[in-house]
Amino acid sequence: MAQARIGIVGLGTFGINHLRCFRQLGYQGVAKLVAGCDVNEQLLEQRRREFEFTPYTDYKEMLEKEELDAITVVTPDPFHKDIVLAGAEAGVHVMSEKPLDVTVEGCLEMIEACRKAGVLLMVDFHKRYDEYHVAMKQKIAAGDLGKIQYGYCHMEDRIEVPRDWFPNWAPHSSPAWFLGIHFVDLTRFLMGGAKGTAVWASGMKGKLSSLGVDTYDAVTFMVNFDNGATVVYNTAWHLPDAFEAVVNQGIRLVGTEGLMECDSQDRGTVTCCTGDTPGMQTHNMSFLRERYDKQGRQIFQGYGMESIADFAYNVNVLLEGGTIEDLGDYPSGEDGLEATKIIAAVHESIESGQIVQL
Ligand SMILES: NC(=O)c1ccc[n+]([C@@H]2O[C@H](COP(=O)([O-])OP(=O)(O)OC[C@H]3O[C@@H](n4cnc5c(N)ncnc54)[C@H](O)[C@@H]3O)[C@@H](O)[C@H]2O)c1
Repeated sequence: MAQARIGIVGLGTFGINHLRCFRQLGYQGVAKLVAGCDVNEQLLEQRRREFEFTPYTDYKEMLEKEELDAITVVTPDPFHKDIVLAGAEAGVHVMSEKPLDVTVEGCLEMIEACRKAGVLLMVDFHKRYDEYHVAMKQKIAAGDLGKIQYGYCHMEDRIEVPRDWFPNWAPHSSPAWFLGIHFVDLTRFLMGGAKGTAVWASGMKGKLSSLGVDTYDAVTFMVNFDNGATVVYNTAWHLPDAFEAVVNQGIRLVGTEGLMECDSQDRGTVTCCTGDTPGMQTHNMSFLRERYDKQGRQIFQGYGMESIADFAYNVNVLLEGGTIEDLGDYPSGEDGLEATKIIAAVHESIESGQIVQL
């Protein structure tokens, strides 16, 4: 069986999930975590000690020196593009964290480079891998909702995310880029790949800018899709520190034959109150569950792992002689482009106050 040789670029807050995923796929002989790259040398060394890989501070050197089959890109949003392009040039398959890029032109460039190089381009839109969303998708595909007419999504983070996790690049992002894009992709997935046709948006600032992080607190936007549905999205990342979880999220779709709701936050999750955390905390066990295998090794399960693992399984299909067409449904570069078109239009609409046609 093929065993994809993987390098990861960007080993920060979310990069650790890529490290966890490929390390544990190594236990099963599915992938091999070969190399890791981060410009932060101290972090790189800390991660190397925990996960055991060949460390690099320069991704070009990593691509040159290592015989990799694939890389994943987990750098801040504006820095995915150059790394994806370098990966394509080196002939390795690429998974990018969302958003694929923060410009439509950048996404097009990345798609074209990967197409020319004949390498896979995947985007880590993991909401598609959530078992509850997969169940929704199956029911919708079976016609349970009839023709979808409208919907509502919300995704909100506790304020620690932009304030404490990445205050340096939060001003270059927004709740729409960081959170909204997940539900834009999910609604497109649930609606059979529907594309956005028009966008109206409104952005609110005040709380985070008062703390020195110049970014929107909240962005609300409405998207018309080419299947006739209109979906409203509430996104924010300034929920109080005392809120019960890091993320609050859910989706509701209504069609001619019924309605479907999934509250991803409150679905029988573990609640606890410990140490000096404020109040009761809830945990999204569908996203990440920590376990120990029979050998006592730490492993993680959940859709947060499955979407990354799917990349390795896809790469293995290609290494075994399959083609990209054989891979079936996965969040592709084109899906990354469609989601970026919508979120770029969201920001254009906020600035102009106008509806943006796509
Ligand atoms: N799928 C999800 O749910 C999810 C969740 C969180 C973050 N993300 C995405 O993951 C990406 C990273 O987010 P994060 O929260 O881990 O950010 P982070 O700031 O914690 O980590 C980014 C890391 O990239 C490194 N880096 C920057 N430029 C680099 C370069 N040229 N070469 C090598 N390393 C470089 C930084 O030193 C840092 O360690 C973002 O695109 C973000 O949107 C996705």
